[in-house]
Amino acid sequence: MNKTVVITGAAGFIGSHVLRLFVNNYPEYKIINLDVLTYAGNLENLRDIESKPNYQFERIDITDEEAVLSLFRKEKPSGVIHLAAESHVDRSIEDPNAFIRTNVMGTANLLNACRDIWDSWEGKRFFHVSTDEVYGSLGETGFFLEDTPYDPQSPYSASKAASDHLVRAYGNTYGMPFVLTNCSNNYGPNQFPEKLIPLFIHNIKNNKPLPVYGDGKYTRDWLYVVDHARAIDMVFHKGENGRTYNIGGFNEWQNIDLIKVLCAQMDEKLGREEGSSLELITYVKDRPGHDKRYAIDANRIKSELGWEPSVTFEQGLSKTIDWYLSNEEWLDNVTSGSYQDYYKEMYQGH
Ligand code: NAD
Ligand code: TYD
Repeated sequence: MNKTVVITGAAGFIGSHVLRLFVNNYPEYKIINLDVLTYAGNLENLRDIESKPNYQFERIDITDEEAVLSLFRKEKPSGVIHLAAESHVDRSIEDPNAFIRTNVMGTANLLNACRDIWDSWEGKRFFHVSTDEVYGSLGETGFFLEDTPYDPQSPYSASKAASDHLVRAYGNTYGMPFVLTNCSNNYGPNQFPEKLIPLFIHNIKNNKPLPVYGDGKYTRDWLYVVDHARAIDMVFHKGENGRTYNIGGFNEWQNIDLIKVLCAQMDEKLGREEGSSLELITYVKDRPGHDKRYAIDANRIKSELGWEPSVTFEQGLSKTIDWYLSNEEWLDNVTSGSYQDYYKEMYQGH
């Protein structure tokens, strides 16, 4: 194997898709999954590739400076693709410090470990995977571009913005080679059922209420997770050092319209009477500081690297629902234990 790449957070939702793509497509790389396995990390997500000879798992907390450094000194990765993070906005409202620790301090520890082991920058790359939420909230029109000023509004997006700034600062100050991506909302298999789409699939299946925040007219730009993984592969291999790429699905939906499409597909797939899932919609108290609209202009990655989404939203949603309906055991596993308590607490007031 000619190269070692550490992928952090690869037991999580997006990370598992990125890791699968790298392990399968680059047998000449040794791929290390660095993940502490929080509630959102699940090795079940990687069962199909865990016995591949180019895969290694290291259970390490990125906030543990010593543990990160000692792994990096031992394995000497030349590439890092950093996805490990606390990722759910609602949780960041409940417990911001967990986000500051992991997303800010954890990223700093990884950057410092790279500085420690990389005595030349030649052939090295730190890839920071970030979110469009760092740009704040849009009005009715316009798009986020790579040079849109940062204006994060939630503890989650503020912690991601801080980590983006750190990555750019290490590039500017020390010359560390980096690339950075800011992506829109992802959906697809293996997403923890606290985010809108998997939560609502889970609730429709179990005839539970669908908690729509506020008036439901908040807008998000949705991207199928495998298309995000393909973009990360392209940027890792072909992106220009020091450059940022926005990634998005050209696919904006108001929450309530998306929920209606989801309900229709679920009714059909479950063989239920048309319109029956719509009855589960329950308007609840709004999320504090709720960002009105996100929309990505992804023309840079499209024109410079030739990336574009490979599936339509209807196809992606259908594949996602099929995956959740045929992986009930996965869903039951991840929704048992501590998550259940969290879930009960979150929604008992509504
Ligand atoms: P996720 O919550 O599903 O997974 C996060 C992973 O990181 C888990 O495997 C978890 O165990 C691991 N992790 C968390 N804290 C850790 C720590 N201290 N040490 C080591 N591992 C730790 O997240 P996701 O949705 O897959 O997001 C991955 C990345 O992509 C994040 O950086 C997120 O900000 C970014 N992102 C997500 C989206 C989205 O829609 N989900 C969109 C754009 C960007
Ligand atoms: P979410 O999946 O949490 O992603 P993000 O907040 O990072 O965009 O939420 C997507 C949208 O759906 C957001 O506008 C909040 C809304 N939402 C609900 O209306 N109800 C819910 O139960 C959840 C989880 C989200």
